[in-house]
Amino acid sequence: MEQWNHGEVTPETADTLSHAELDHMAVQLLLDPDVRAVPFEHYRTLRTHAPVHGASFGPLWFATRYDDCHEVLRHPGTAQPPTRLPEDPEPGAADESDSDSPFLFGRRERDLDPTAQKSLLRLNPPDHTRLRGLVSRGFTPRRVEQLRPAVEAMTDAVLNDLAEAREGDLLDLVGFPLPVRVIGELVGVPAEDRDLFRTLVRDAATSLEPGITPEQQQAAAAAGLQLRTYFEGLIADRKAHPQDDLTSALVAVQAAQLAGEEPGTEPLTDQEMIATLILIFAAGFETTTNLIGNGLWCLLKNPEEMGRFRLDPSLAAAAVEEMLRYQSPVQMDARRTVADIEIGGQQIPRGHWVITLLGAANRDPEKFEDPEVFRIVDRPTPVLSFATGIHYCLGASLARMEGRVFFNHLLERFDTIELTAEPEWRNTFTLRGLNALEVRVH
Ligand code: HEM
Repeated sequence: MEQWNHGEVTPETADTLSHAELDHMAVQLLLDPDVRAVPFEHYRTLRTHAPVHGASFGPLWFATRYDDCHEVLRHPGTAQPPTRLPEDPEPGAADESDSDSPFLFGRRERDLDPTAQKSLLRLNPPDHTRLRGLVSRGFTPRRVEQLRPAVEAMTDAVLNDLAEAREGDLLDLVGFPLPVRVIGELVGVPAEDRDLFRTLVRDAATSLEPGITPEQQQAAAAAGLQLRTYFEGLIADRKAHPQDDLTSALVAVQAAQLAGEEPGTEPLTDQEMIATLILIFAAGFETTTNLIGNGLWCLLKNPEEMGRFRLDPSLAAAAVEEMLRYQSPVQMDARRTVADIEIGGQQIPRGHWVITLLGAANRDPEKFEDPEVFRIVDRPTPVLSFATGIHYCLGASLARMEGRVFFNHLLERFDTIELTAEPEWRNTFTLRGLNALEVRVH
């Protein structure tokens, strides 16, 4: 195998950890279930010894410091994967594998269906700028704020279910149903269809994970197809019967453009609408389910902090930020370099991949005091949990609002919330969440 010899080991680290050992840690982070479950020690070691670590096994770098991750995500010399460069081998060519990291997402460009390629998450400027501008017109802060009373009512409804059950898996009872109802309401997916989405979105989201198996890849593709068919139908319905939802808002943007009301802008295509709705639907609940589950786990493991929060509901905003920081629902993001760039003193050549470990950046001691401790305080540095730059999470304000409403109502409703079984982390790396969170409430 070709050696990718970059990322010099500095003299003071050479006597503690070798480049091969650091490589091993990086691979463990992505693929080893035990390390995925508790990656924080590995983050610390990489951050201390090789904050921008260039792997020997591929054109791949790992960034663990806040400032470096921030810079990579905003750098004009980086782009969203998959990005083909003119010098890349043709799809299917014998040397193709050299241009594509084996650890990233398990998907190559040719495997992405045409709809997925239109997703905001896969686009770069100018296509991204145009689509994000059009989508943002339907997904306005006003629309998010208008949802608040509905979010409060939906929160109370799922908490009623929890109160009735008295004990059970909080993710099943609340963590999944709440975000799916909220996002369903926003997008316009009828209540009776929403249950369909849990497995579909979960299957589709495995394509974000490093090292997925061919079977998982197939399941992801099949789920993608089902989601596409579903949203094609929803768009057709809203073209005929507009309602007050995001799907209708996007349909209206397209209709105005096609009627020539906005000369000079390329009209939104149906495929772009489908990709956008799938992305918003998918991005909108797996992550928020994990904010709820990971967040409650943080409170249960830190009863003093839970007690302070219970006594002072105005801590909700700080509490949600701390949950997002301490157990980030998205642990990593990635970019491909489209130019030679320098990050953290390391020269990264064009065509390489940089993994930004958001969960590590959120525990960088240069930016967060006592980063390994969960503490509900106003911290001066914003969390990187929603990334930064042009792909900054479109749903960040919705997720934050949902989280604050949920935890305020939860603590107000129940005097006692206790774990009945020790939870386990799912065997995933990009999206961090628990398999189940068994609790009893009074
Ligand atoms: C706690 C909950 C959430 C977390 C941690 C989260 C995290 C993220 C992150 C890290 C990205 C950047 C990905 C990249 O740079 O490649 C992102 C993008 C995105 N998120 Fe979220 N997200 C959450 C909730 C939501 C919600 C509720 C929605 C929709 C209602 C949403 C919609 C999106 C969209 C559309 C993008 C793509 C933006 C673009 O590429 O321009 N997210 N999210």
